[in-house]
Amino acid sequence: MTSPIRTELHDDVLVVISDNPPVNALGQAVRQGLKDAIEGALGDDRVKAVVIRCDGRTFFAGADITEFGKPPQGPNLPETLDAMEASDKPVVAAIHGTALGGGCEVALACHYRVAVPSAKIGLPEVKLGLIPGAAGTQRLPRLVGAEAALPMVAIGNPIAAKKAQSIGLIDALVGEDSLEADAIAFARSKIGQDVPRSSEGTANQDGVKNPDLFDEFRTRQGRKMRGFDAPNAAIEAVKAAGEMPYAEGVKKERELFMKLMSGTQSAAMRHYFFAERAANKIDDVPADTEILPIKKVGIIGAGTMGGGIAMNFLSAGIAVTILEMKQDALDRGTSVMRKNYENTAKRGRMTGEQVEQAMGLLTPTLEYDDLADCDLVIEAVFENMDVKKEVFAKLDETVKQGAILASNTSYLDIDEIATATKRPGYVIGLHFFSPANIMKLLEVVRGAKTRGDVLATAMKLSKKIGKVAVVSGVCPGFIGNRMLSKRQEQANQLIMEGANYWDVDDVLLEFGFPMGPFQMGDLAGIDIGWHRDPTKVTTIREALCAVGRFGQKAGKGFYDYDEARQRTPSDEVKQIIADFAAREGSEQRDISKGEIKERLLYPMVNEGAKILDEGMAQRASDIDVVWINGYGWPLFTGGPMFWADTIGLSTVVEGLEKHGLEVSDYLRNKAEKGETFN
Ligand code: 3HC
Ligand code: NAI
Repeated sequence: MTSPIRTELHDDVLVVISDNPPVNALGQAVRQGLKDAIEGALGDDRVKAVVIRCDGRTFFAGADITEFGKPPQGPNLPETLDAMEASDKPVVAAIHGTALGGGCEVALACHYRVAVPSAKIGLPEVKLGLIPGAAGTQRLPRLVGAEAALPMVAIGNPIAAKKAQSIGLIDALVGEDSLEADAIAFARSKIGQDVPRSSEGTANQDGVKNPDLFDEFRTRQGRKMRGFDAPNAAIEAVKAAGEMPYAEGVKKERELFMKLMSGTQSAAMRHYFFAERAANKIDDVPADTEILPIKKVGIIGAGTMGGGIAMNFLSAGIAVTILEMKQDALDRGTSVMRKNYENTAKRGRMTGEQVEQAMGLLTPTLEYDDLADCDLVIEAVFENMDVKKEVFAKLDETVKQGAILASNTSYLDIDEIATATKRPGYVIGLHFFSPANIMKLLEVVRGAKTRGDVLATAMKLSKKIGKVAVVSGVCPGFIGNRMLSKRQEQANQLIMEGANYWDVDDVLLEFGFPMGPFQMGDLAGIDIGWHRDPTKVTTIREALCAVGRFGQKAGKGFYDYDEARQRTPSDEVKQIIADFAAREGSEQRDISKGEIKERLLYPMVNEGAKILDEGMAQRASDIDVVWINGYGWPLFTGGPMFWADTIGLSTVVEGLEKHGLEVSDYLRNKAEKGETFN
């Protein structure tokens, strides 16, 4: 087998080139090739300096994740990099694309780093539940200081080349189209000089001088890190870089790395990494299916969802025409969009010019004719079948043939909506989540007649607007809301049987969700959909509305809220619930947090199993992607289906049976055979 690493001698500079598509992951053959090339360079008197670069779209994007969990095959990355750094001949990393993880560590082991301006560099291992394992946590702080290294190692977002230069991680920015030539010239200019080694740097002393740095960072980032093991290990490793000699620091890093690698969180997060990419693939639609061009998008309804959906396209530079029934609704909708953009600009995440650019792409209208030349129209009007059908019939008449007509419905039948048109092949569901300009998830709902190219176009477009898309079949609530309703059913039932509602919320919080169902209700407003008659009380929510407990906006809902929006359980609500339960004849008992957890989560797994059995989701991991991106299911458990695999499907079945809840045949069969979903 030919090596993915080749070398080219340019007079006195040896260029070492990796060609390992798609992302130059540092698999065994790459590591071997790199080690051989460095050893060759050291033993060759003609070579006075070395440049390392990659072919294809990116510099090394990290270790080969598919090798994790398998028996290691030498040479390992740390020893390869140590050999590189030990060289007295200058070694220069020439970076384009993304130098990530092990790729960033290669660059750190080089004596110098040059990059094109569009390059990004980072240590995203925490996103896989890991920390860098090839001395990244030790070399980076020594090179750029603990303060600059902390967010890179513990949060894991890559930084742009210019920023990297400003913290001393990149030595020089070079021409976007002349990386190799510029890197060779740079390397040549360093021949004969003493080489700087990151492992010998002293910038890490900032953390020794100001040890509070680490706790302050922990406090600042606490919310982002909650429940995750890796960020704390990352902080520990960076701290060790200041406190220990290099070799000991590396040993510490290795210990932390190995512990994380064998833990369940990393397994779950690696599962998620591949799950997100698998979700893009549609079993019966070939990857090379021709995509329909989408240059202009129409949106019907400028309410909560329509406005947010429109912003996705405007931000991606795609023109949007938005239609409403009345001028005041149209004005209200567009002004909310502008305000949202302006708030983003206030927070420094957009320039004023970008706000105007985005808003400049928007055309508000009251006339269907203005949508005639749209390539895609997304309907986001009231959740009512008759209204939706009327809108689709009108769209079918006015919008050009070959354009896609999509609905943002949460629950309604896409196939029935499609019957209102003469182009059911071009009808699809695009189910965005609220707030639609922020939430990552997009459920792409495939109707019985939806064409393959329409589906492929929706998937491609979702990537362009920064969404994570998952294909769902047509069923009430699709994948996400269908499973949510099972959880909600149990949450309501539990408080009727005597469980404290705050215990229900806390169980989910402790599991890793950002909030529980009752907190969520308070946030969204308990009065959504309320009939406004305080004398008619048929649910607990109606009972709360009857006494003005509308949620956070009213200062009280399920909880009482102080000025800082801190919640405290309410005796009044406890009494309202007890009275309501007594009225309904629901017997009260003490309910443990263990029971609450099982009754909230196991029925979701069961529903997920039914969704799979019915073919509504293509694969179990798609369900995990939906729940992690749309509903805050904790990433470190891998999603509901992966989590169920981890605890064992027979445990889930036993739990459901114990509580007298439904067990689907699909789940039972899998459990009996000792199988897993993923
Ligand atoms: N190992 C194995 N496969 C990888 C990979 C990796 N590190 N990175 C990407 N791939 C695969 C993907 O699974 C995908 O495969 P598919 O086509 O079969 O689905 C293919 O490469 C292309 O990836 P993307 O679809 O993600 O391509 P993009 O262009 O959208 O993104 C990227 C490119 C930014 C490099 C992105 O792939 C990425 O973020 N990769 C992971 C980077 C990472 O986490 N690196 C750290 C690894 S851990 C490590 O290095 C430990 C070290 O400290 C010892
Ligand atoms: P909304 O009430 O905020 O907005 C609906 C808008 O549509 C209103 O501005 C209304 O004037 C307009 N409208 C109604 N009929 C129209 C017609 N015939 N022509 C043009 N405009 C018309 O409702 P929201 O929350 O934006 O929901 C819209 C759709 O999105 C619904 O189908 C809903 O189920 C779905 N959805 C809602 C989510 C949410 O969290 N609010 C999440 C995901 C989907």
